[in-house]
Amino acid sequence: MNFTLLAIESSCDETAAAVIKNGKILSNIIATQSIHQKYGGIVPELASRAHQQNIVPAVAQALLQANITKYMLNGVAFTKGPGLLGSLLVGVSFAKAFALGLNVPLIEVNHMEAHILAHFIDDPKPSFPFLCLTVSGGHTQIVLVTDYLEMKVIGQTQDDAVGEAFDKSAKLLGLPYPGGPLVDKYAQLGNPYAYAFPNVDTPALNYSFSGIKTAILYFLRDRTAREPDFVEKNMNDICASIQEALVEILLKKLRKAVNETGIKEVAIAGGVSANSGLRKKLQENADKLGWNVYIPRFEYCTDNAAMIAMAGAFKYERGIFADQQVSPDPRMKI
Ligand code: KG4
Ligand code: ZN
Repeated sequence: MNFTLLAIESSCDETAAAVIKNGKILSNIIATQSIHQKYGGIVPELASRAHQQNIVPAVAQALLQANITKYMLNGVAFTKGPGLLGSLLVGVSFAKAFALGLNVPLIEVNHMEAHILAHFIDDPKPSFPFLCLTVSGGHTQIVLVTDYLEMKVIGQTQDDAVGEAFDKSAKLLGLPYPGGPLVDKYAQLGNPYAYAFPNVDTPALNYSFSGIKTAILYFLRDRTAREPDFVEKNMNDICASIQEALVEILLKKLRKAVNETGIKEVAIAGGVSANSGLRKKLQENADKLGWNVYIPRFEYCTDNAAMIAMAGAFKYERGIFADQQVSPDPRMKI
């Protein structure tokens, strides 16, 4: 990997830029947009505007920290999708203009594939074939990875993503957006077996999180009707129990996938892989069932451009480039 790439990520609410040189990440800049917090969720138009403000400084910072000039770049990688159209447009337009100005190739990257390829930034790296549970705000998938650029989704959610289930539960508890990390924080102080939520069975390797979301809604409604300060008094136990239920749903199908494929190389990726309960339980399953597990460093779990740089590098190596007419693909699939 004897080349240097700039990578841009703008699919959702983080404006990120990174530099990779000879296969090593030299910088990884993330500008998080706090504007969405007061609205309790991402407002697409505001995300797009914030990307426009952040992208030039984020790229300048990434080049500075990597100690290179833009003239040393051999290519520009960017997230083509999936994501919010208005957000993706900013990154795609910037990457196209930057690459055109420098006369270097453009490399389009699938955001979900990049979450998985983040495992090749650091050691230990998984060996092929491996299974990757990809869990984020928009996706819940079990992916069979047979090579760097060969992946197949073998199971996925039929309704909400698990990140959404974390965020919506947090909202019911009166916690600010994004609630996933806060549920995790309170859960660490609570009893995961204080309350039980159903693990509804779904076909094959697919997931469903809408049933548990409704169960949590009714549970909280009934308890607070009897005891108005139920949530405040029991926040740690409620969060621990919700987290336990969501993590167990994830692991049940992952165990099934391992049994069906016979593959014991198991990775997790995406924002929810930052969850301490998931990381702990995955390791417990691994110890018990003889799996090799791969858990990314925290900064490579949630959205970042280092993973786009890594994915872009595998494509650059193989001469797979995008043309100047490329446009965002909000519903891009693995
Ligand atoms: O991958 P990501 O940064 O963005 C998407 O591509 O969606 O994932 C964001 C999701 C959000 O739903 C957020 O609440 C969740 O990941 N998340 C967590 C934790 N950290 C982030 N959920 C539970 N526990 C965490 N520690
Ligand atoms: Zn993501």
